Amino acid sequence: MTGAADWRRGLPPMRAQVIPPDLADPLARLAPRLRGIGHDLHWYPEVNSTSDVAAVLAGRGVPEGVVVVADAQTAGRGRAGRTWWSPPGAGLYVSIVLRPTSEVARLLTLAAGVAVAEGVAAATALDLQVKWPNDLYAGPRKLGGMLAEAAHDTRHVILGIGLNLLVTAYPPAIADRATSIEAELGRPPDRGLVLAECLSALDRRYGDLRQGRGAAMIDAWRARAAHSFGRHVEWYEAGRPRRGMVEDVATDGALLIQTPEGPVALRSGEVRWI
Ligand code: BTN
Repeated sequence: MTGAADWRRGLPPMRAQVIPPDLADPLARLAPRLRGIGHDLHWYPEVNSTSDVAAVLAGRGVPEGVVVVADAQTAGRGRAGRTWWSPPGAGLYVSIVLRPTSEVARLLTLAAGVAVAEGVAAATALDLQVKWPNDLYAGPRKLGGMLAEAAHDTRHVILGIGLNLLVTAYPPAIADRATSIEAELGRPPDRGLVLAECLSALDRRYGDLRQGRGAAMIDAWRARAAHSFGRHVEWYEAGRPRRGMVEDVATDGALLIQTPEGPVALRSGEVRWI
């Protein structure tokens, strides 16, 4: 059980809980494909953020590929300081301890987007699209997102993944822009299978990056981002709005945008479709 004293000191409980059978069974079936990522999975009914728990475990020196999953998060976070809505059982809230080189780290969120889309497709046959740099969409609505957070000393990266599984009462600010696998399929997914297939696809795509096969991943990303090319977007640079048309993604993961002032290669931040 959660050690209250541990939480007061900001540490995750020493011992995670027994993994529920609906997760444990598919993970066991796919275990031969989970040698690099998912060989060790820590399950919690509720945490503040799985990425915080994973960061503490990383600081204690756990090996690369350790995964933290929770049924609910009380302080799930998204990009740009936003909150990630994380009610019990309605989503997959997953964080992974990785120790990538800087070259691999640069392509990590794009690779994670491709991998999670592939994992969802394998588990449900749903065809998701990616939006630079780290969003997953089903048509016009967001279904998931990735957040890669590097340690200050860059000795590890925590890759956080949030996926909406079930229809739920989203907060008004995102209600008309969010969707879930259940809403798209018309039935609830097998969450254990979704988790196991996503970890397996991540294992494969992360291995590709480490072995210098980033170009194949970029091609796969492009194929899932076709809806973005030719679209007009807005983003902020030094506090000022800029606009342009998305042309492509570069081999280093930058988004290539044509603007009236000339071409721009965007390496960080996010864009809004206009
Ligand atoms: C985004 O803004 O699109 C990224 C969302 C990332 C959410 C996940 S849920 C698991 C992990 N724990 C967190 O607190 N955030 C990430």
